[in-house]
Amino acid sequence: MRAEELSEEATECRQELDQYEHRIYVCMAAGCVSLQSEELLEELQDAVEERGLEDMVAVKGSGCMGLCAKGPLVQVQPAGLLYGEVSPRDADDIVDSLGEEPVDRLRVPQQQQFYGNQKRIVLENAGRVDPTSLEGKAMWAKLFQDLTAVIDSLGLCLFTSFELDADDYCDLYNTIVGEKRESDELVQTGERIWNLERDFNLRAGIGPDEDTLPSRLLQEPIPEGPAEGQVHRLEELLPEYYRERGWTEEGRPTGEKLAELGLQ
Ligand code: FES
Repeated sequence: MRAEELSEEATECRQELDQYEHRIYVCMAAGCVSLQSEELLEELQDAVEERGLEDMVAVKGSGCMGLCAKGPLVQVQPAGLLYGEVSPRDADDIVDSLGEEPVDRLRVPQQQQFYGNQKRIVLENAGRVDPTSLEGKAMWAKLFQDLTAVIDSLGLCLFTSFELDADDYCDLYNTIVGEKRESDELVQTGERIWNLERDFNLRAGIGPDEDTLPSRLLQEPIPEGPAEGQVHRLEELLPEYYRERGWTEEGRPTGEKLAELGLQ
């Protein structure tokens, strides 16, 4: 999947959420979960249902919003409100206030120094993305695998990817080698590496049966914490991952894919 397709998918997700008149995001990262944000999320969902507002109000879990010391945090959009130290008992007041006056006692001033001094780049969408959703994860796995194959081939430490993106690696490559490649080309080099390795492994008898995880991760639900009750949903993710790679349902690169990458 290319950058344009990625951004189309992001736009679709945004449009889906934009259909709701109000969106309530509850932080479901570790700090806020330890302060009852799971119960808070349930109370908010109940409050919305009791009022028959399901078509107008979306209640979603999100990743860390960044101001953990004020947790549990709740964002209300499009009003742009940030509520802090929210308890499950505040759920009714928050839902009743939608489209009306905010709940003043819970407000965290957005302009305070903590947020005012930040320019978010990687975490720009923190607080809006549901960490338990599988949507798009296969695509990100493929993209990250392709990019890290390039980083490995450049002889660089993978930790540099915490700071640099594909354009940065491309600039480094072009500067050192004296070429003028685009970042898409570089990422496709990573895709070529992954397909070549896959083809080699298949010929060596290492097949899709090896695309698995220890049974403990697949069968034993997490006993506590934010992911309580969950197991790894590999069965759902693997077919989508194969599709993203342009492989067959059995996880084999198609002749078409190998030809597209110049590997045939
Ligand atoms: S854990 Fe909730 S804001 Fe960081």
